[in-house]
Amino acid sequence: PLVTTKEMFKKAYDGQYAVGAFNVNNMEIIQGIVDAAKEEQAPLILQVSAGARKYAKHIYLTKLVEAALEDSGLPIALHLDHGDDFEICKSCIDGGFSSVMIDGSKYSFEENIALTKKVVEYAHAHGVVVEAELGKLAGVEDAVKVSAKDATYTDPDEAVEFVERTGCDSLAIAIGTSHGAYKFKGEPSLDYARLEKISSLLPNYPLVLHGASTVLPEFVAKCNQFGGHIPGAQGVPEDMLLRAGKFGVCKINIDTDLRLAMTASIREHFVNNPSDFDPRQYLKPAREAIKNMVKHKIKNVLNCSNRL
Ligand code: G3H
Ligand code: 13P
Ligand code: ZN
Repeated sequence: PLVTTKEMFKKAYDGQYAVGAFNVNNMEIIQGIVDAAKEEQAPLILQVSAGARKYAKHIYLTKLVEAALEDSGLPIALHLDHGDDFEICKSCIDGGFSSVMIDGSKYSFEENIALTKKVVEYAHAHGVVVEAELGKLAGVEDAVKVSAKDATYTDPDEAVEFVERTGCDSLAIAIGTSHGAYKFKGEPSLDYARLEKISSLLPNYPLVLHGASTVLPEFVAKCNQFGGHIPGAQGVPEDMLLRAGKFGVCKINIDTDLRLAMTASIREHFVNNPSDFDPRQYLKPAREAIKNMVKHKIKNVLNCSNRL
C-alpha cells in the first residue's frame, strides 16, 4: 500500500539507518528501483519533482506508482520533491501523494515558516506528511569560506524553532551537499559537527539529506568512455553517507546516480550495438543498471535491507 514516511522514519531513526528517496520520471526508472527494493525487502520512497510532473504528467506517474504497489506488494511512500509553493503541494496532496516537500529555503526565515505552516495545516488535515527545508544547499564554490558556511548552512537553533513553529514532519538541512554531478571541487567534506548539533537539539526527529548522490565513478567513467563528456564530476563518498545515518538522517535523496547509471548503460549499448533502434534493446539493460545500482545503495550506503 501507499504509506506515509511516519513509521518508516521512526524505524530508521531507531535503527540508525536511512531510507532511500529516489527521483522517478518514467516507467523504466520506477521498475528498476522498485525491483531492487523488493529483492532487498527495503523501505522505499519514490519522489517526483515539479520537472518530473511536467515531463511525464502527474497522472502517468501516480498510475505507474499504483502499478508498482500492486506488482511489488511493498509499502511505498510517494513524495513531492521540492514543492516551491502551496499550490503544487495542494495539487499533489489532492492527487494522491502521501508526502510532500515544501521548499521555502529561498525565502527569509519568517516567510519560510509561514509558507511551511500553511502546507502543514492542509497536508495534516488530509493525512499527508510534510518535509521542509532550512538552509541553502551549497554550490561547488560555497563551502570554502567559513562565513559562507554560516550564511547558508542550517543554523541549529533556528532548526529547533522552525520545527516547533511549523510542525513539519521532517527537515532537510544544509551541511555541505549540493544537487547534481559536481558537488566538490577539492576534497569532499560535510559539516558533521553541525549535523550532530542539529540532531542532538532535535531528538527523535528525522532529518533529510538532499544532494546525496555519490556520483559513482564507474558510471562517470563509462559515460566518458562511450562518448560522453562529464569531466570532474564528484559526489558524496559512500562512507560519509553511512555516517550521516548515525545522526538522525532518515532520508537520503538520490537522483543524479540514477541518471548516470541509466545514461552510462545506454551510451555503452549504442557504441557496442550501433544498429539497434528498438527502445527495448537499450532500455532493458538501462533498467537493469538502475536496479543493480539501487540494490548496492540499499545494502552498502543506506543500510536498509530487510527493514520492512
Ligand atoms: O532536486 C532536484 C532533483 O534532482 C530533481 O531534478 O528538477 O531536474 O527533476 P529535476
Ligand atoms: P542528487 O543530485 O545528489 O542526486 O540529489 C537529489 C536530490 O536531492 C533530489 O531532491
Ligand atoms: Zn533536493
